[in-house]
Amino acid sequence: MKALKSYELRKQYIEFFKERGHAVIPSSSLIPENDPTVLFTTAGMHPLVPYLLGEKHPEGRRLTDVQKCVRTGDIDEVGDATHCTFFEMLGNWSLGDYFKKESITFSFDFLTKVLGIDVDKISVTVFKGDEDAPRDEESADIWNSLGIPRDHIFYLDKKHNWWGPAGITGPCGPDTEIFMDTGKPKCSEHCDPSCDCGKYVEIWNNVFMQYNKTKEGTFEPLKQKNVDTGMGLERTVCMLAGVGSVYETDFFSDVIAMLEEMSGHSYKESESVTKAMRIISDHIRTATFIMGDERGVTPSNVDQGYVLRRLIRRAVRYARVIDLDAKRLIEISDKYVSKYGDVYPELCENKAKVLSELETEIDRFTRTLENGLKELYKVLKYVNGDTLNGKTAFRLYDTYGFPIEMTEELAKEEGYKVDIEGYHKAFEEHQKKSQAGAEQKFKGGLQDNTELTTNLHTATHIMLQSLKRVLGEEVNQKGSNITAERLRFDFNFSRPMTKEEIEKVENMVNDVISKDLTITCEEMTVDEAMKKNAIGVFGSRYGEIVKVYSIGDFDVQICGGPHAERTGILGKFRIVKEQSSSAGVRRIKAVLEK
Ligand code: ALA
Repeated sequence: MKALKSYELRKQYIEFFKERGHAVIPSSSLIPENDPTVLFTTAGMHPLVPYLLGEKHPEGRRLTDVQKCVRTGDIDEVGDATHCTFFEMLGNWSLGDYFKKESITFSFDFLTKVLGIDVDKISVTVFKGDEDAPRDEESADIWNSLGIPRDHIFYLDKKHNWWGPAGITGPCGPDTEIFMDTGKPKCSEHCDPSCDCGKYVEIWNNVFMQYNKTKEGTFEPLKQKNVDTGMGLERTVCMLAGVGSVYETDFFSDVIAMLEEMSGHSYKESESVTKAMRIISDHIRTATFIMGDERGVTPSNVDQGYVLRRLIRRAVRYARVIDLDAKRLIEISDKYVSKYGDVYPELCENKAKVLSELETEIDRFTRTLENGLKELYKVLKYVNGDTLNGKTAFRLYDTYGFPIEMTEELAKEEGYKVDIEGYHKAFEEHQKKSQAGAEQKFKGGLQDNTELTTNLHTATHIMLQSLKRVLGEEVNQKGSNITAERLRFDFNFSRPMTKEEIEKVENMVNDVISKDLTITCEEMTVDEAMKKNAIGVFGSRYGEIVKVYSIGDFDVQICGGPHAERTGILGKFRIVKEQSSSAGVRRIKAVLEK
């Protein structure tokens, strides 16, 4: 087994699959372009859903990439050895090409021959079987034929060994997950890869998408059988190096060294210093990637901007724990830009914006933090007995961003305790409320809802429908950006549009405008939206209520809005540019004129 640097593993993985006929595709944006129902790209397959469903990918049937991902479900867990809010997923796909045998053999060969991992250290899980699909003996037999002993092959249920569909219906199937044994003793005689004691660490997941989940909830065999795999880059580098945490690999070690140097504290000095340095390293990395993304956002109180704000503010709070001037977090962000700039050039392109937005947010929060300190000392004067109540501790967290550890420490210096249990209770109640609110907020929408942008947004819908009618139903949105001056729209199409096609689309849009159709909005479940053939159904979550906008009987799309009330007010639509955006993706810029 070889310890590898992050760039070596990225390169070796991509080379391996390239040699085996896979086209290398670029990482997509962290902000999903086709799915208004989620905030961030969470897996390599996310941007590929249309192709897994059968649409033809311009690069062919075998693909590989390194995808930037953000998972924010457990921001509050970050600080332990393994949780990261940003990570890179190495992936390879077969779109109706090879299946189990090749996929498992590729994985086995890559792990044992390229990475040199001992077969002994590998354990795998396969689907145990239930009423929907049979026990996956095929995968187990393939693993065994390659040399994985039977006692390293575990059969687990749907909860562990099934992936998908992305929405209510669509491709899904059993998966086989690959684990590395850390060498720790089993925690009990029942310990297996489904156990979270830390003995087994999952590094790769191969999903065999051989079923289509129907509206009725049944599983039909798919005509196109796909393979969707994902390997965690950070985790695998960590396992290969045999170190205890991802923060001790080259993803973070230089940043941790900078923090040590800047703060005068040493990483291993105490649990609280280790945790603070991990949180700062993780959060500033994620914030840098979100702001530096090709579709990057800035801190705000809604959607992706809200998550970004939480990340930055949390990093600022933890800077205080290690006596670090929060302004110096800008140097950490700068470090990430130069560290990752080769692989993700958008970070360099957006560097000025990233650093200035970070600075603004740090300044803004530093001001509240000072007020919070004043507030804390004031409330301590009025404490009854020797314990600060949990609700007040939570208010200090919620309003001024005080971590409970900081409140506790400061209170202790003044001779007080804090009701930690009460704090957690107040925290949970708030979380429940804000999660419900966030789910509502996370449905998309425009940042700047002036009449001009609203009209351009409606024009975008009419144009997508027209593109589908002129170029073919398979045309889908790949990106959209609207300013007060123009709309910009990316869509999958493999060649430049002809002059005639551009004219046809313009005429169709202007025709819809001149008919002065009424635009209506209804809320319904994804299921109902699907029955109406609304554009944008895939990727929506089961049971979710979505907004559906209809433009007369011309067009139906799932969308967060807002839209014009009638098409007649839009003015004259004109396409000013049609050009290539990336492989297989075209970009249109268009305007509405008086
Ligand atoms: N889509 C699969 C996962 O995220 C590979 O685990």
